[in-house]
Amino acid sequence: MSIQWFPGHMNAARKKAAESMEKVDLVIEVLDARLPQASSNPMIEELRRARQRPCLKILNKSDLADPAATKAWLAYFGAQPQVSAVALSCRKPAEVAKLPALCLKLAPHRGTALKPLRMMIMGIPNVGKSTLMNALLKKRVARVGDEPAVTKTQQRLQLGNNIVLIDTPGLMWPKIAHPSDGLMLAASHAIGVNAIIEEEVAHFLADQLLLHYPQLLAKRYGSKVEALDGPGMIETIARARGYRLKGGDLDLEKAAHTLLQDYRSGVLGRVSLETPESRVALLASFVVAPTEALPEEAE
Ligand code: G4P
Repeated sequence: MSIQWFPGHMNAARKKAAESMEKVDLVIEVLDARLPQASSNPMIEELRRARQRPCLKILNKSDLADPAATKAWLAYFGAQPQVSAVALSCRKPAEVAKLPALCLKLAPHRGTALKPLRMMIMGIPNVGKSTLMNALLKKRVARVGDEPAVTKTQQRLQLGNNIVLIDTPGLMWPKIAHPSDGLMLAASHAIGVNAIIEEEVAHFLADQLLLHYPQLLAKRYGSKVEALDGPGMIETIARARGYRLKGGDLDLEKAAHTLLQDYRSGVLGRVSLETPESRVALLASFVVAPTEALPEEAE
């Protein structure tokens, strides 16, 4: 399966992000705690390292993620130079309230009225950047937008006297490095899927859940799940729920949609789709280096 990431305007967006990076002291990178590496944009890391900007990695939606996997990810990211990592839910204002102090710790030379701490929130779509921004500012603010083509390019928002939040358009990368990353992102709704590939995404998700969280599937759909594979699990859901098409065949599309919805909303339970160990295994399984580089694009 190939998932088309946002095409066009990549180099222009990258250039703008590089310019913004120059003007900030700290990057807040929002990740999805259920798939922290798959939901991170390698370009953000590349740009901030080039400018030697410290980074606070927020493993957001930790209310939906497996606490054990999240703990492992926090240790993994926390060991990186100039990086702090924190897991939270941006929907919980009390958790977000702890962030300014963490940010100031990462850039101790800033944070006065004269030299305010300038921060930029970055991350792929749907990880919770708007939710975070609203929680930090304690009010609803329209974001600049995730499409690189939007006309408005930047806004500065005051967070108390000593911190400035710089909001920029989202930064996309045109090609997803590993097919399983695309599937994880689609399952988690960071990228859209159409009806045809929704079933493929659901098969992938069902396979992952059968492997790591079979008890959650058994509990939710009230059936035995041993010896099932992804498509078998979808069939089981259709049967358990009585999803039938007019002619009487199982409505597998509806069952696939149900599984995805149940995972996304958290009703299935707390699930993570990757761990630092599974990431290492994934990378090791690639004989040929994946293409993470941007294609050259005329401006
Ligand atoms: P973005 O700016 O990065 O694109 O993401 P945004 O804040 O719009 O959040 C995307 C979806 O994720 C929203 O749900 C939002 O509520 C949800 N979300 C954000 N943070 C958390 C979190 O910590 N935990 C959980 N469980 N969900 C979170 P939505 O269904 O699109 O909209 P809404 O009606 O829930 O607001």
